[in-house]
Amino acid sequence: MQVTQIDIDSFKQFIENRMGLFLDATRISGLNELILTRIQVCRCMGFQGYLKLLEGPESAEELRVLSENITVGETYFFRHVDQFRAFIDSAVPERILRNGRRAGFEILSAGCASGEEAYTLSVLVHQNEALFRNLDVSIAGIDINPTSIKKARLGQYTDWALREMSPQDRKEVFAVEGKKYVVKDRYRENVTFEERNLLEDDRSFWLPGRFDVIFCRNVLMYFSTEKMRQVVGRLSRVLAPGGFLFLGPSETLRGLSTDFHLYHSHNVFYYQKKEDVELQRESPHFVPAPERVTELSRPLVSDLTFGSIDVTWAESISKSANYIESLSRKVRGTSAGFNEKGAAKSGFDIFIKVYDCFARERYQEAWETLQNLDPSMNQNPEILLLRAILLTNQGKADEAEIICESILRNDELNAGAHYLKALSREQCEDRPSAIEENNIAVYLDPTFAMAHFHLGMLLRKNGDGERAVSHLEKALRLFDIEKPVRIALFGGGFSRNALINLCRSELRNSER
Ligand SMILES: C[S@@+](CC[C@H](N)C(=O)[O-])C[C@H]1O[C@@H](n2cnc3c(N)ncnc32)[C@H](O)[C@@H]1O
Repeated sequence: MQVTQIDIDSFKQFIENRMGLFLDATRISGLNELILTRIQVCRCMGFQGYLKLLEGPESAEELRVLSENITVGETYFFRHVDQFRAFIDSAVPERILRNGRRAGFEILSAGCASGEEAYTLSVLVHQNEALFRNLDVSIAGIDINPTSIKKARLGQYTDWALREMSPQDRKEVFAVEGKKYVVKDRYRENVTFEERNLLEDDRSFWLPGRFDVIFCRNVLMYFSTEKMRQVVGRLSRVLAPGGFLFLGPSETLRGLSTDFHLYHSHNVFYYQKKEDVELQRESPHFVPAPERVTELSRPLVSDLTFGSIDVTWAESISKSANYIESLSRKVRGTSAGFNEKGAAKSGFDIFIKVYDCFARERYQEAWETLQNLDPSMNQNPEILLLRAILLTNQGKADEAEIICESILRNDELNAGAHYLKALSREQCEDRPSAIEENNIAVYLDPTFAMAHFHLGMLLRKNGDGERAVSHLEKALRLFDIEKPVRIALFGGGFSRNALINLCRSELRNSER
């Protein structure tokens, strides 16, 4: 028996619809075998028969089996320890302070795998008893994989899962039984584990505003963009206003949601759900840019730190870059796409014209196009960013910064605005803020070559050679593949080759 590419594509689509997981090309060979085995075990008549089973009323058990085979359950105690420090030192005190009258404190570990994250939270709650005084703390661990949930309930681990824990903590938290480390009862009391699919509705569980803090780390990175957005929407609804959300270090909410403020402390990024009044007064035209997940940006299991979704306004332009280029060839020398006064007719036309001006280094013309806009477009974030870029190029970084501030008031996750702000801060000789703004930009968009480059230069000036080299090396790799539209917009008038040479020379200086 054989499965065809069409069968595999239908299977992948089914998995994405029901579990959210995006099965990329690297896993195709494994999928072949899995599908064939399952067809045999379920005694189905070929792939179509198997698909019928999956889509039928008896599919629940088969979905459980598939989730055991398809999900990645890598985890350990105190994983990404700085996030737990931020949780205890910053998120919890702020939450408790604001939440004076609530008697409970509910934490969700979404995609908890075999339970290490949920138990780590329980250990922290116990180690910080004074902080949680008089609060009834509960930690709910949920995961789609039944084997993981069984293991989590058992609470028995090998020393590999404890590799980040001090000997003192190990002794405190576990009873040793042979080679097994068994979680002591006191750390289990406030923890529950449940098999649950993040995509499935259940009103009794997903209660609005229920959770104070949600950890959903290293889960969304395996999801398709559409399903990421669906899950983030759900997590936002069940998080209390002012509650905190922790994602994995290579995951961001950029392009997925504007319901959150971005926090940066303890060297990590995390999110705070906006208050209801803030959400209500947000301008309706500030919606996340349409996104596209690229091969580069999709995390590879072997290169997780580099992975993230790639979603920016510039992406939406670059998506059309070829089209724009061919169109602009037609447009050149004519006034196609513009009305008699030269004012652009629509947002798309403006981008064509402004990008064309950038590509030909006609910044004055780009500026005039933006000045000539219909007032209704003046608050469009993409137009605002283009204005800020042009002001920066004209040496008016202070004016550009004011525009960036207004963009960021509505969309804190705009990597381009943070980068321009970094340039402005540097001009004001405020290097710490410039570094911070670039840190945010590269966190939000790890593929942003210019932000890595600028950050590398700033860190070198600051005497932080090691981190400087790391960012400059990333910039060098990225400049090679950076899209022409981003070089044209953010490259300060330098060509790709010039930027690569500059980056090489910075690297040589940093390594000295
Ligand atoms: C890499 S583990 C992350 C474990 C832990 N959060 C951490 O960061 O250490 C990802 C987990 O997400 C779970 N998962 C994947 N899709 C899910 C879904 N649709 N609903 C619930 N859990 C899911 C997987 O079963 C897996 O255990």
